[in-house]
Amino acid sequence: MNVKKIVEKMTLKEKLQQLTQLNAGFLDKNAGTEATGPLSSMGLTSQDLNGIGSVLNFQGPDNVKAIQRQHLEDDTNKIPMLFMMDVIHGCRTIYPVPIGLSASFDPQLVKDCCAMAAKEAAAEGINVTFAPMADLVRDARWGRVMESTGEDPYLNCLYSRAAVEGFQGDLKKGKVAACVKHYAAYGAAEAGRDYNTVDMSERTLREYYLPAYKAAVDAGVEMVMTSFNVLDGVPAAANKKLVDGILRKEWKFGGVVISDYNSFREMITHGVAENEHDAACLAVNAGNDIEMMSATYIGHIESLIKEGKVSLKQIDKAVERVLKLKKKMGMFSDPYLDADKALADSLDCCKEHRDLARKAAEKCAVLLKNDGVLPFSTEVKKVAVIGPFANTGEILGNWRCYGKHEQTVTVLAGVKNLLGGAEVVYAEGVSGELTASDESGIAAAVKAAKGADAVILTLGEPQGDSGEGNSKLDLELPAVQYKLLDEVLKANKNTAVLLFSGRPLAIKRLSETAPAILEVWQPGTEGGSAAANLLFGKAVPSGKLTMSFPAKTGQCPVYYNHYNTGRPRMNDDVRVAYTSSYIDGPNKPLYPFGYGLSYTAFGYSDLKLSSSVLQSGGTVTASVKVKNKGSVAGEETVQLYIRDLFGSAVRPVKELKGFKKVMLAAGEEKEVSFEINEDMLAFYGPDLVKKAEKGDFKVFIGGDSECADSVSFRLV
Ligand code: NOJ
Repeated sequence: MNVKKIVEKMTLKEKLQQLTQLNAGFLDKNAGTEATGPLSSMGLTSQDLNGIGSVLNFQGPDNVKAIQRQHLEDDTNKIPMLFMMDVIHGCRTIYPVPIGLSASFDPQLVKDCCAMAAKEAAAEGINVTFAPMADLVRDARWGRVMESTGEDPYLNCLYSRAAVEGFQGDLKKGKVAACVKHYAAYGAAEAGRDYNTVDMSERTLREYYLPAYKAAVDAGVEMVMTSFNVLDGVPAAANKKLVDGILRKEWKFGGVVISDYNSFREMITHGVAENEHDAACLAVNAGNDIEMMSATYIGHIESLIKEGKVSLKQIDKAVERVLKLKKKMGMFSDPYLDADKALADSLDCCKEHRDLARKAAEKCAVLLKNDGVLPFSTEVKKVAVIGPFANTGEILGNWRCYGKHEQTVTVLAGVKNLLGGAEVVYAEGVSGELTASDESGIAAAVKAAKGADAVILTLGEPQGDSGEGNSKLDLELPAVQYKLLDEVLKANKNTAVLLFSGRPLAIKRLSETAPAILEVWQPGTEGGSAAANLLFGKAVPSGKLTMSFPAKTGQCPVYYNHYNTGRPRMNDDVRVAYTSSYIDGPNKPLYPFGYGLSYTAFGYSDLKLSSSVLQSGGTVTASVKVKNKGSVAGEETVQLYIRDLFGSAVRPVKELKGFKKVMLAAGEEKEVSFEINEDMLAFYGPDLVKKAEKGDFKVFIGGDSECADSVSFRLV
């Protein structure tokens, strides 16, 4: 089967159809999408549907098979369609949202979770997932931070690679092609408002925002999705420098580039294209292949070719790339691949997948505060489980694919399952909705809390309040949740807050009042079991934040690897005029990047370097002793940070350069070491060349990004 030969046989119209992606509703004869309705509003006729190249948003393997079968009857060229879907954190078995999962500091876990999702997805008939989202994020007001792995470029690269490897593997059985998104810098939307302007220097773009997409490309990702935002005044999908220049020519990406949903037409709204004709021209010339949910290609490429603005060769190349992917996946010999209802049902929340989802939920929980309340004893006689997220399966998170709430272990069920005989009482107290104000349920919550040996209070934001289009002005909890907290605490001090969120929240007041706070994100199918295990000490929290929690929303964007400024604030507690500071609050986040407590405490000592000089091309070893000073075993993520003291461009106050996870028994001490080499010190200077510069460096090793002990070396 020769892809070029197929392309030679295709008419231009068929090629453009091949480059068009539509919602399954258009292709499903039973769905009854009318030619006079949505289809014609897109400028399509029912004949256009015969040659469509790919589909998104469909309903399971039988639906996929039916649509594919019909298509193969209708399509002159008999080219199977690719079925694409957002498999973001699980398919049927849902694991924690990516911002949560990233707190595990465990790329292997991410790889395993993505491999599990791929297996389920392939059985659903999904060929491509629109993941990973490799957008670096610094502003928790942006709802899509839930889909990201945080604020650090080094960590994002590890996760991006791991996800691609997990989803794709050898692209054979039980695997799906990955589509890294949203290229590029979608996560830097001004003021955290979704789809908003992105504007930054090329140096910043290359140093922080591009590496995680590049890591996916280097890992062999099959597809890249261009983003909705403008970059340097040009929408990403129209941005030739970004797509044709950096992605194709510089990084040598030979796979398929797809637009985001309707983003070609949005070029008109952005104001860079006067009409669909211009939009199609910009899109092809920028380097996009597939057009998602609009039909500017079908409507306008023919005339653009006649006008000499687009060449047939460009179109042929794009079609070839799409067909190559279909061929690589084996679709020409078996258009249905793994799609199989019985297989999908057998994998659906099966024990093995639940076990992994539970492990992931345990590994990503971050203990933000503990005054000694946690872990609760398993000997308790009576437990109260309170709050809006206690007795609901709606803790899967946004982008939950085919995940079902009724298959989710609620916190209440998790606690009951774990404790067996104990009396477990429940009260919702208040609603979790952003606008909730009804306090009438609080009395029942207080009654439940009174006399309980342990109180679990679930607070946070509903799963639908993060994700696409869910930007927030205020990251604090709604007042009514504080009211519930205050009243419950008056009734019972032995209370731990279980915090549900798809983003960092600005929970200063909570941090001052709650005796313990365990951030569990939107933990997925096994959320309730994981929470119970953590609360009652069957699992020990070990997650570390990958995104700073602001002390106040007004700090956003707040991130650990910031510059020093010429007038740094030295002390957050005092107001010093003419320093880079706020007059009404601290500069520092409430909880910094890398932060997370355990049920034990870790001590760091003997930080040292093998040499105070790093010869160009050589290495220096940094080591530290880490001791478990408590009485239970625990896992610590030991983090290596470096500061380059002087450079031709300003360097951040700290940069994560490595980490190691160590398991330590009570009282145990281990030496942990890291090799430092010149490559790790490289950065983009004003000339946009990436290299290390000679001079002095500080090395910090500790349990979070605020670790202060340092040693120094000189690169010569
Ligand atoms: C729009 C989102 O921005 C993108 O992430 C997603 O993959 C597509 N819609 C398809 O659902």
